[in-house]
Amino acid sequence: MVLNTIRDTNFDNKKVVIRVDFNVPIKDGKVTDPTRIKAALPTIKYLLDNGASLVVMSHRGRPKGKKSEEFSMAPIATEFSALLGREVKLAPDVIGDEVAKMAKDLKKGEVLLLENLRFYNEETDNDENYAKTLASYGDVYVNDAFGTAHRAHASTEGVSHFLPSYAGFLIEKEVKFMDPLLSNPEKPFVAIIGGSKVSSKITVLESLSKTCNTIVIGGGMAYTFLKVQGYSIGKSLLEEDYLETAKSFLAKAEERGVKVILPLDHVCAATFAEDATPVSVDGASIEGDLIGMDIGPKTIAAISAELKDAKSVVWNGPMGVFEFDAFAEGTKKVALALADCKGITVVGGGDSVAAINKFDLADKVSHVSTGGGASLEFLEGKTLPGLKALEAK
Ligand code: 3PG
Repeated sequence: MVLNTIRDTNFDNKKVVIRVDFNVPIKDGKVTDPTRIKAALPTIKYLLDNGASLVVMSHRGRPKGKKSEEFSMAPIATEFSALLGREVKLAPDVIGDEVAKMAKDLKKGEVLLLENLRFYNEETDNDENYAKTLASYGDVYVNDAFGTAHRAHASTEGVSHFLPSYAGFLIEKEVKFMDPLLSNPEKPFVAIIGGSKVSSKITVLESLSKTCNTIVIGGGMAYTFLKVQGYSIGKSLLEEDYLETAKSFLAKAEERGVKVILPLDHVCAATFAEDATPVSVDGASIEGDLIGMDIGPKTIAAISAELKDAKSVVWNGPMGVFEFDAFAEGTKKVALALADCKGITVVGGGDSVAAINKFDLADKVSHVSTGGGASLEFLEGKTLPGLKALEAK
């Protein structure tokens, strides 16, 4: 995938309409995790250093076309300004005469942040006039919102029809790390896929099994696969409707020569609760009414052994109920093995990113994606509309 990037043009005295993903968690009016804001700063600083003025736009949450204080960009403007180290003006709206004037009056080096793009349904509807209005605020469009690249919205796709369009450094970096995993990964390539549902991970399993040597299946979805293989799974999560899908995936993986690692042992509980007592189960079968909550030490050792010589690794989805401390060990040990791996290590997807942050290991891997749904869809091999709009023709 070759994108037009901000290295390809000159920004001196240009007004840049830039889409970022500042959809960050906020509590009591304060940003609690500024990762996504920080991730866009290299692009923003580059544009300012090269003589641009900026009209910055993002969504926050899902206000469903209604203006509200609850979804205002105000707390984000404060955090953004502090991190950038310069004034950020917050527009009172996304559209309207006052906003248009604020954009028009921007001087070189100045930064204007629009209100929440999703205050209007026209954003998610990819309305042409809304996109045209956003485009009218500048001379050039830059997209650095990797986290929203899977949405064909006015600000991520529509606007690219009206302005010369370029990818920022964040999008460039995300693609640089993830694209080779689907096309030409350095081998051995190990994919570690966890999470609770086969239904939401089957497409990514299928996609990655085309290029990987080993695929690890962990988390709640692993029990459906174990069931297919004839093991008892007690009262663990089971997706009856996906037994056939799981079976045919395993057959296809075998045909392709892909090694599949499923849990060899477990940490279980009698109830699905944070304070439940962990019960070790030394084998793949889970008897009685026990619920599988995490992978056990043998599985951890098998995964760690695969990671030792891996040249590329992608991790999407936790190995167990890592939000509960008593059942976080499997996910933590896999994260540590990933941190020790000498190959290219990529973490994508909301929960595995939360896990790597929880264990303070984010700076020990090659790349932590800022995309949740976007990185999953990318790894599924889907075309992301926000990226397609930036492709070099
Ligand atoms: C995200 O948080 O994954 C992105 O900002 C996209 O948000 P959305 O799922 O509401 O489109």
